[in-house]
Amino acid sequence: MENRRPFFYDVTLRDGNQALKKPWNAQEKETIFLQLVKLGVQAIEVGFSGSSDMDFEACRHLASIAPQQVIVAGLARANEKDILKVAEALVEANSKRIHTFIAFSPFHMKNVLKKSPRDVRTIAVEAVGFARDLLGDGQEIQFSVEHFGDCAENLTFVIESLQEVVAAGATVINLSNTVERTRPLQFVEMMKTVFSNLPEGVISSVHCHNDLGMATATTVESFFAGAYQLECSLNGLAERAGISSLYEVAMSLYNCGIDVPLDMSRFYETAHMLAGMSSIPIHEKCPLIGSDALVHRSGIHQDGAGKTRGMKKGAYRTIDPSLIGRGGERMRFTSQSGKMAIYEIIHKAGYAITIEDALRILPAARKKAEEMGELPLEVLLNLYINESVKSI
Ligand code: KIV
Ligand code: ZN
Repeated sequence: MENRRPFFYDVTLRDGNQALKKPWNAQEKETIFLQLVKLGVQAIEVGFSGSSDMDFEACRHLASIAPQQVIVAGLARANEKDILKVAEALVEANSKRIHTFIAFSPFHMKNVLKKSPRDVRTIAVEAVGFARDLLGDGQEIQFSVEHFGDCAENLTFVIESLQEVVAAGATVINLSNTVERTRPLQFVEMMKTVFSNLPEGVISSVHCHNDLGMATATTVESFFAGAYQLECSLNGLAERAGISSLYEVAMSLYNCGIDVPLDMSRFYETAHMLAGMSSIPIHEKCPLIGSDALVHRSGIHQDGAGKTRGMKKGAYRTIDPSLIGRGGERMRFTSQSGKMAIYEIIHKAGYAITIEDALRILPAARKKAEEMGELPLEVLLNLYINESVKSI
């Protein structure tokens, strides 16, 4: 059994923020920052201070209010100007981290950076060395390999470069699946190879985008393969289709018996707060937090859910919803539904219905639902009351 605790590094205020139609100002960022502190994430990337004066001010403000136990990080491209901006913005934070990055994938180096691998390696090493000199010892420098998922063909170059980056002062190495093109197990294998070739004591991290919908899988499997820091965001917000959702990663680990050091009972309230603040509604089928994500409609599922109600493990229930601060496991009646739904819905409304009563009105209820779709409570109650009157 795995007994390490994961380290959650939240990127909502940076990767999430840069994907918004209207990026947050300092006040809005503060609201989210304080919620992240309540959740208990261990590190918060507060922004990209070189991107705008507004973001610089927001980073500076958050650094000034950050509690001692939370690491405050800021993102910088691998150049002195950006790195200086982060150092300046974070000056008041007790625990701070400069996070710099550059792409090592052959495609990106050639077509976007338009530089040779040797030059890119030099830029990375010099940027980390510069950040180390600025921060001094005792604070962390994170270096990210952007587009690591695309580095299968030049892994040796990546490893040798990272060895130099670590020697220059990086304490955290983050491997990014910047665009999700790699299968989770392929990514995990590459990650294992890299970290097995870096000095012990280097903090291992992954940052998995969700373009193909596998970010949570990649992040969770990376943890079990040895990664310590997991980069996630609230509601999965980040560039394009986002990044691994904090709620999904945390609950997946919890379900595997991992000690998750977060206040998960705040997940649901947080998700709704984020939806409001980002103007990005939560899809009703979104895992864990969607309004319809805990609804049973098929008769088979309703039967299993009803028979295992109150048990620690449910027949068709992934988690106990109260763990994430929501109620909401419900049955709804459609033409696909069964007697258990009728029983539960009417029983919940305060009537002393029996399973036999429910079975009696099932054919009429199904017929109605074929015309109407999901039946409202009143329709089911009418059927129940009429049937009860008939049988007196
Ligand atoms: O997706 C990515 O590669 C990033 C890096 C800056 C870490 O967001
Ligand atoms: Zn990213």
